[in-house]
Amino acid sequence: MPELVPSNGHAAGHTAHADAYCLCDEDGREVARLPRLEATLGVGAVDVRHLLDDAKITTYDPSFSSTASCSSAITYVDGDAGVLLYRGIPIDALVEKSTFLEVAYLLLFGELPTANELDTFTNDITHHTMLHEQLASFYNGFRRDAHPMAVMLGVVGALSAFYPDSIDILDPAQRLISIERLIAKMPSIAAMAYKYSVGQPFVYPHNELDYPSNFMRMMFSVPAEEYRQSPVLAKAMNALLIVQADHEQNASTSTVRSVGSSRANPFACVAAGISSLWGPLHGGANEAVLAMLQRIGSTANLPDAIRRAKDKDDPFRLMGFGHRVYKSYDPRAKVMRRIYEELLEETRTQGDPLFELAKELERLALEDDYFVSRKLYPNVDFYSGLIMKALGIPLNMFTAIFAISRTAGWLSHWKEMIEDPDQRITRPRQLYIGPTQRPYVPLRARGDGASGSKLPAGLPMPSEKSIVGG
Ligand code: ACO
Repeated sequence: MPELVPSNGHAAGHTAHADAYCLCDEDGREVARLPRLEATLGVGAVDVRHLLDDAKITTYDPSFSSTASCSSAITYVDGDAGVLLYRGIPIDALVEKSTFLEVAYLLLFGELPTANELDTFTNDITHHTMLHEQLASFYNGFRRDAHPMAVMLGVVGALSAFYPDSIDILDPAQRLISIERLIAKMPSIAAMAYKYSVGQPFVYPHNELDYPSNFMRMMFSVPAEEYRQSPVLAKAMNALLIVQADHEQNASTSTVRSVGSSRANPFACVAAGISSLWGPLHGGANEAVLAMLQRIGSTANLPDAIRRAKDKDDPFRLMGFGHRVYKSYDPRAKVMRRIYEELLEETRTQGDPLFELAKELERLALEDDYFVSRKLYPNVDFYSGLIMKALGIPLNMFTAIFAISRTAGWLSHWKEMIEDPDQRITRPRQLYIGPTQRPYVPLRARGDGASGSKLPAGLPMPSEKSIVGG
């Protein structure tokens, strides 16, 4: 059995400062030398890039639980201590003192901007918020009841057809203009998806407004009356955008990096990120949390919900609970809960029954051994849905807003990846468990296969009505 030992000969795990590990065969002969890579914070890594060539073996880690797919200087998460830093700065300080565009700049370029840099960046973003008029006609191709995420991923993917002048990803100037276009246009695209779904006219962006206020106005103003900006709601939206802006190598960010590694254009990469984010185990969870709370309905039903969440034969899970990385309270959930309480106070909303239900669910779960022993705490989505509900945002727009915010993170990682000389096209290996080589059997010799058919017994044919969209 091959053994992994530090290169100085001590048993693995007993020497903190080994600079490499060796994979040794049964006779103690070194078959591969695996350099140890140090992190500035958190755990280091064993560099296995040459393992296959040297030792003719791969590593097996299907959902990347123990695999660093890249080095990154953008975001740090300590899941045990409940710490989240953007470029070293704690998330709560940013939520309290910063603006979304300042945070986007920080994520993209690594430092907080000077006043001049922030002015230029804000001006550039503000002047790219409009969409090409022809892009607006895309919306008419969707059903009115289409999910806004379906519309967004179609429209964002289509942006590459509108900006062929800026999709040379190897040109830093074209990279930057594409990044600015995407961050600028996401709120317009999302607000238009909403307006289309409710049958109201599109509202164009307004250059006098800051990023969150502009989005709120595009969502909620109608031509028939004056729109009154609410600084309280804009402040909550700013906080929401900051908190969700990045979270290191999560599913959607890894997707963006993976798609981008083939040198696909950034519009295609972000459309892929939107697809990944949409899933209920990822960004779709905020929508699922509210749907779950509404279905539970009252505190009397909470014990039954908890019982079902613990039942392995029941697919029901407590949405907004648990996280691959956080094994303590998600710091984003803490910030979200505080913002929500402030929002209720500032809007003088008393006793939202869903908030009371959420708090009680959190209390019961955190007293239950099932959740305690598995370290399942509320995650960012547990309270973000409640904030969006308080802002008047409809349920099916929750994940779309997450996508607006996460675009800053996706593009920071995309930029970092393109600029990283270590990155090549993403191409994992596999542990093949299929049949060994065997001969082709001609059709006539295969029998009728009636009993062992792999196809489902009979999917209904679509009716003429459903084909025409009735
Ligand atoms: N409710 C009930 N049980 C849960 C939950 C939950 N929400 N989450 C995890 N568990 C249980 C699992 O059944 C498993 O139990 P077992 O060890 O007895 O088999 C154990 O806790 C570990 O869970 P995994 O699914 O293996 O953890 P993983 O890291 O793969 O999944 C995930 C993390 C997807 C977030 C999971 O906790 C989950 O499904 N949560 C609900 C969805 C959600 O809130 N997603 C948003 C995440 S934040 C974000 O993406 C922005």
